Amino acid sequence: MLRTVTCGALSLKNLGESVTLCGWVQKSRDLGGMTFIDIRDRYGITQLVFNMDDNRELCEAARSLGREFVIKTTGTVVERSNKNPKMFTGDIEIKVSALEVLNAAKLPPFMIDDETDGGDELRMKYRYLDLRRNPVRSNLVLRHKMAQSVRRYLDALDFIEVETPVLIKSTPEGARDFVVPSRMNAGEFYALPQSPQTFKQLLMVSGFDRYFQIVKCFRDEDLRADRQPEFTQIDCEMSFVEQEDILNTFEGLIRTLFKEVRDYDLPEVPRMQYADAMRLYGSDKPDTRFAMQFVELNDVAKGKGFPVFDNAELVVGINAKGAASYTRKQLDELTDFIKRPQIGATGLIYARHNDDDTIKSSVDKFFNEEDLKQWSKAFACEKGDLLLILAGSTDKVRKQLNELRLEMGNRLGLRDKNTFSALWVLDFPLLEWDEETERYHAMHHPFTSPKPEDIALLDTDPKNVRANAYDMVINGTEIGGGSIRIHDRTLQALMFKHLGFSTEEAQKQFGFLMDAFEYGAPPHGGIAFGFDRLTSIFAGLDSIRDVIAFPKNNSGRDVMIDSPSTIDDKQLKELKIKTDL
Ligand code: AMO
Repeated sequence: MLRTVTCGALSLKNLGESVTLCGWVQKSRDLGGMTFIDIRDRYGITQLVFNMDDNRELCEAARSLGREFVIKTTGTVVERSNKNPKMFTGDIEIKVSALEVLNAAKLPPFMIDDETDGGDELRMKYRYLDLRRNPVRSNLVLRHKMAQSVRRYLDALDFIEVETPVLIKSTPEGARDFVVPSRMNAGEFYALPQSPQTFKQLLMVSGFDRYFQIVKCFRDEDLRADRQPEFTQIDCEMSFVEQEDILNTFEGLIRTLFKEVRDYDLPEVPRMQYADAMRLYGSDKPDTRFAMQFVELNDVAKGKGFPVFDNAELVVGINAKGAASYTRKQLDELTDFIKRPQIGATGLIYARHNDDDTIKSSVDKFFNEEDLKQWSKAFACEKGDLLLILAGSTDKVRKQLNELRLEMGNRLGLRDKNTFSALWVLDFPLLEWDEETERYHAMHHPFTSPKPEDIALLDTDPKNVRANAYDMVINGTEIGGGSIRIHDRTLQALMFKHLGFSTEEAQKQFGFLMDAFEYGAPPHGGIAFGFDRLTSIFAGLDSIRDVIAFPKNNSGRDVMIDSPSTIDDKQLKELKIKTDL
């Protein structure tokens, strides 16, 4: 090793020792007779001291060092006169006797500090420099710890990590595929896996019984803070299990992770039916760090002559506790918020429960004191509460009120990043209607089994067939999802039929899986967690970009390596993509 210790290791215990350190120049201070250099590596920072009177040449060499130069230095550990209690090494410094520049460095385009002056794009372009910064590096260290913890937990339960191929054919997870042309099979393409779904099911047919993989998945979909075109799943599958076994096993995984990595005691994870989540929160991924559940008001609000309510399918609201003091301006802001095109509500009705016990609403013209008392009762309202009410068609108004609820959660400080609230959402619908293609799509994926008691409804009332499917939600983010699978050829074929596949299409795309089901497929089920999302929640971050070493930007580009990029004509010809050359 070029070094004897790291830059984060030394303390008063080491006084008098001769040590050699390697690292980057964080900063230097020249005080005339003395020069101080902070040397940094991933373990910490150590102060080096050079004294003009002791060794002029060495001191001048130190003065000529630039930021981010890579140096090797030897010296003696001495006590500092000016101690820094904020640093582990803050009680000591190194009286340097030798200094070697291992490599000079250009001035970095932004400060390598916890608080940097570099903008997003610049830091993405020089990601290798951004990764030198503590907050960015520590996210990757956290990610590493989580991956180790996952492996320990699953290994102890006899799960086997198996790698599945990356050059495959389309798996229908609902997004577009990234495709790769095949040189040896002109005109044909591989697809990159949106998930290893079919392979993990085949592994169950092979008798692997318990499989997991921390695996890259690829989806060509619009990017958001919690979506990247390539992301990582903790992908798992088990044989001879029922839904209850999967929920227990993976709740155990998540609670163990919280304990081992964050020293956080996550309570037992409550469960909620999909239909209840939609009714109480207007979302299949409710943020349960705070209550503010929806209250439906059709019974008390309709039939009083207020057309907005009378013409609505659903009148529904939330109780923002303690917000009755909201000013007119604040209420206007909320109205503007829900009227934005992305949310699309037409207006907001509110009622304040004042400290003198009177209730004043924005629609007093239509509702008398007795009516408003009924509202107040429905919301279990107390003095100081603010009721916010929307009306419209059920699905739309629930979505809009969900946005308003989250906004109020933010405004009232109810969404603390260091508080964690997990939830299982169960019994998703099996199918969802797609307006664009005018047919049903599998809400989870086509391999999800319907609840046996609902199978008969497939022909008569498809949208009300429930699936053996479950999601785990933490703090309002979908962290993982899975299902008990179909393991029977006939039922799988029936499912494809309901999804609008002809027998030939189904056989062409998924014949391999249905064939496998005829060779002794065990009952099985599984789940996949979004590892990037889970890590970003552990790190208290809003974007998964920050927990990925080399992420893509919002347009799906890696600006550091400049990808995607064009390829030359020779390659195109070789791949038979361009033949007129
Ligand atoms: P699903 O499609 O729900 O299920 O994906 C599982 C989890 O992966 C995460 N995720 C993403 N994370 C970052 N960027 C993305 N673009 C992205 N897309 C999804 C989410 C999600 O909950 N094969 C099934 C699992 C199964 O049935 O076992 C599947 O992939 O956190």
